[in-house]
Amino acid sequence: MKTQHALFVCTTCSSVWKDGKRVGESGGDKLFKQLQELHQDWELHQEFPIQPVECMSACNRACAICFVANGKYTYLFGDVSPDLSTSEIANVLECASKYYNHSEGLLPWAERPEPLKKGVLARIPSPKADAGELN
Ligand code: FES
Repeated sequence: MKTQHALFVCTTCSSVWKDGKRVGESGGDKLFKQLQELHQDWELHQEFPIQPVECMSACNRACAICFVANGKYTYLFGDVSPDLSTSEIANVLECASKYYNHSEGLLPWAERPEPLKKGVLARIPSPKADAGELN
């Protein structure tokens, strides 16, 4: 079975709210558009699609992005600036390539780019196929 990957970007992060409604472009929208622009020419754009989501419960650590794949660790990153430079955006995709190429999706701190070094909010393991045998 082929491993399904996804790069989630919260588009609600850093929103401006007025009278209970979001107004204008959020920081998350901006980050999503920047990532999407480079993503379309990225070698893994089909294997590792980018997907907007409306919240990953990391709201007080905006902006939030997540690498997820079946059978791999899930990484949730917060404190990602919505104003990354083009090279920083490219570095995020480069990091996603490392995630893609590692069988368990492990991303050691030293191998992560600056925007993804400090803000790791979660690193969640994949369930083991034989976990039931431990109980
Ligand atoms: S608004 Fe982005 S994680 Fe909740």
